Amino acid sequence: MLNMDRIHAVENMAFTILGEIADDVEKMEAVAHLTAVAKFSFLLASRRSLNPELAYISGILHDLYAFTHYRREHALHGSILASGVLKSLNIFTQQEIDVVVSAIKHHSDKKKEHDPMDEVLKDADVMDHFLSDPFQSPSMKDYPRFRKLKNELEILLA
Ligand SMILES: [Fe+2]
Repeated sequence: MLNMDRIHAVENMAFTILGEIADDVEKMEAVAHLTAVAKFSFLLASRRSLNPELAYISGILHDLYAFTHYRREHALHGSILASGVLKSLNIFTQQEIDVVVSAIKHHSDKKKEHDPMDEVLKDADVMDHFLSDPFQSPSMKDYPRFRKLKNELEILLA
């Protein structure tokens, strides 16, 4: 189920695209966030018996547009960018691409519930927002999701 070559191919392409960011600190923050969300997504998908490889890939690509362009409607724009990246690699089926595109398209909709793979990406994103600043409580928008996630993982923080 897990193909590191495919993961590396996506990472290479994503990090090349992030090369557009002129500011080094900004670039580092982008790589740190995307990598963290990819790893959390991998763990959550494994725990929920979903596809960890596609979850990881969704994490790597999810905010690529926001970091290289602007945040407004970045979920929709990012899903289109991700679709282009995955198609150009020629190593993913259309069905696999659809899973990643759906997760990225819905990931800003933290209050709603979508497909299980979409939920993995949202939860992983919320988790990294929290762990990037653990002394601040999660935003109102993220809080119910964060509480649910904490219960699922039986973690006793915040
Ligand atoms: Fe994010």
